[in-house]
Amino acid sequence: MNHWKRYTVTAALPYANGPKHIGHLAGAYLPADIYVRYLRAQKRDVVFICGSDEHGTAITYQAILENTTPRAIIDKYHGLIEDSFRRLGISFDIYHRTSEPLHHQTAQEFFLDFYRKGLFKEIEAEQYYDEEKQVFLADRYITGTCPNCSHDRAYGDQCEKCGKSLSPSELINPRSTLSGKPPVMRKTKHWYLPLNEYEPWLRNWLVRDHARDWKPNVYGQAKSWIDAGLQPRAMTRDSDWGVKVPLPDTEGKVLYVWFDAPIGYISATRQWAINTGNNWEPYWKDPDTRLIHFVGKDNIVFHCIIFPVMLHMHGDYILPDNVPANEFLNLEGDKMSTSRRWSVEMHEYLRDFPDKADELRYVLCSIAPETKDSEFTWKDFQTRVNSELVAIFGNLVNRVMVLCEKYFENRVPQANSCSDLENFITAQRDKISDALENFRFREALTEMMNVARHGNQLLSEKEPWKLIKTDREATANVLYDCLQIVANLGILCEPFLPFTARKIFSMLSLDERHFTWSDAGRQDLLRPGHPLGKASLLYQKIEDAQVEAQIAKLRHAAAAASGSAKENHQKNMPEISYETFAKMDLRAGTVIHAEKVEKADKLLKLTVNLGNETRTIVSGIAEYYRPEEVTGRQVCVVTNLAPRKIRGIESRGMILMAEAENGRLVFVAPAETIPAGAVIR
Ligand code: MF3
Ligand code: ZN
Repeated sequence: MNHWKRYTVTAALPYANGPKHIGHLAGAYLPADIYVRYLRAQKRDVVFICGSDEHGTAITYQAILENTTPRAIIDKYHGLIEDSFRRLGISFDIYHRTSEPLHHQTAQEFFLDFYRKGLFKEIEAEQYYDEEKQVFLADRYITGTCPNCSHDRAYGDQCEKCGKSLSPSELINPRSTLSGKPPVMRKTKHWYLPLNEYEPWLRNWLVRDHARDWKPNVYGQAKSWIDAGLQPRAMTRDSDWGVKVPLPDTEGKVLYVWFDAPIGYISATRQWAINTGNNWEPYWKDPDTRLIHFVGKDNIVFHCIIFPVMLHMHGDYILPDNVPANEFLNLEGDKMSTSRRWSVEMHEYLRDFPDKADELRYVLCSIAPETKDSEFTWKDFQTRVNSELVAIFGNLVNRVMVLCEKYFENRVPQANSCSDLENFITAQRDKISDALENFRFREALTEMMNVARHGNQLLSEKEPWKLIKTDREATANVLYDCLQIVANLGILCEPFLPFTARKIFSMLSLDERHFTWSDAGRQDLLRPGHPLGKASLLYQKIEDAQVEAQIAKLRHAAAAASGSAKENHQKNMPEISYETFAKMDLRAGTVIHAEKVEKADKLLKLTVNLGNETRTIVSGIAEYYRPEEVTGRQVCVVTNLAPRKIRGIESRGMILMAEAENGRLVFVAPAETIPAGAVIR
């Protein structure tokens, strides 16, 4: 475990096209930082790499839709993200950018190496092209009707309604999401990585070397990709934003973002080496270096399959020894999403809770989605801060400091008996080490907190504030031990709570640079007589009002965003003729009966009177209306919609609903009651 000579630790390069949220933090950046701080505390040789991923179709299309340039977008967010990370104590050795010339050069070197060795396949194929916006369209940017379930907003790579994987040519009535116009097919040539040819090598490496030491969620995902069969994957794209293809006559072609971005780790290391007078090569080429990629769930395949294949194809590079990816962090019962504004952005947290970086680090580490998705709620945030950080950790430190000031002139008292504190803390330190070495951060944090709990127990058992009246010597012993616990906590909490650690050392008037991880366990970190510094409170309670304000803000932002999503949707809807419109038979109907559909939370089965007939219509409104609220209502019905079987019930027609805030559905109805069956036009 300790045979590694040095460590290269990377955290996924965030796309610089928007702010990053606490789910990103919990998924990759926080665990990476905890791990790196732990290594540094042991004086190991480590470089911690990150930076902005500035290329890719997402950024290019975003610029088109916002009528701006990719450069303008990323310049806005690169600094914001970097600054948020810094204020949250994420201690990268470099925060680089993939738009830097050194990166372009490094990525092009890789490409040329493969090209010269003849490893690419050149393939000319037809691809959808948006003539109005003059760009080739990535699969995601084409929508149309799903051939499987008829959902009219399926994407070119997948239908989100029925989940089927699609290719854009399967879509019925395809449209560009950029212009709303039907795209045309155009020929274009690209360079493909024949991933399939590396399957045996990959399988061998993954299964033989990592079936046991990788997290099951990571290994499982990588393995199932391989088992599903690997396909050649294009490593170039038609675009003018990105790293140019370094070959003649390739105007308008750039490297695929997932080709250049991971090479960004290497170019960042090169830049770091230049800045600090180091040699970058051992960090990437010496087999005694442990390469670790911290990433989120959605990046697993790139770091466990594609990038390792690239490193292997090159030949000079080491492979990742581990990819300890986390799953997703949900927020207040729903998936986190910046575009839907259902998120807590790092910079907003820092604005609303200035100087509370450790509080967030603490909570995110305690609930980190290490083995499965987990959830952040503001209420839980408050509880963990108040009843753990404030009540256990902060309270211990404060009580010990105040008692020493009161009874021992703010100096470390002289102890004259030896307790078994050393064994306890050393054992805790080793438990924390073992958990961290194996990427079990939650467990490591719990063991750290158990040290603080132990201190509190000591205080409440011995009650030094009473003891002092009868036995000064015994009181000195207790407080001596408690102070040593606090000093040990300074070392042990640092990876998790770096700002707290700094405050503890300053309160104790100790220089943290004099201590390493292996000092934790010592019962003499503080000498008797050592003058202590000024006590200050480490944490403050989070008030109910703060929690309520955050929840209200979240609902507000999400509601506003759902409004603007509607506007975009509107812009992208194709124009239709009057004839097309007139094909719809819309009528007023009256609901005469409503009941829940068994085992379907969202569905109501409605019986609707349409004047000359009654129909059964299944409607997805059960989350918003109880059956008794619906009966008797007048509604607007599309009567000539093709019948569909839903949960075994034939539904004939559709009730029109309008989307209110947060996707809540409300009825669309005539402004006054009119005879059932009346035409709507
Ligand atoms: N930008 C990607 C994302 O946010 C991550 C890139 S990681 C790297 O999902 F390997 F490409 F650097
Ligand atoms: Zn579908």
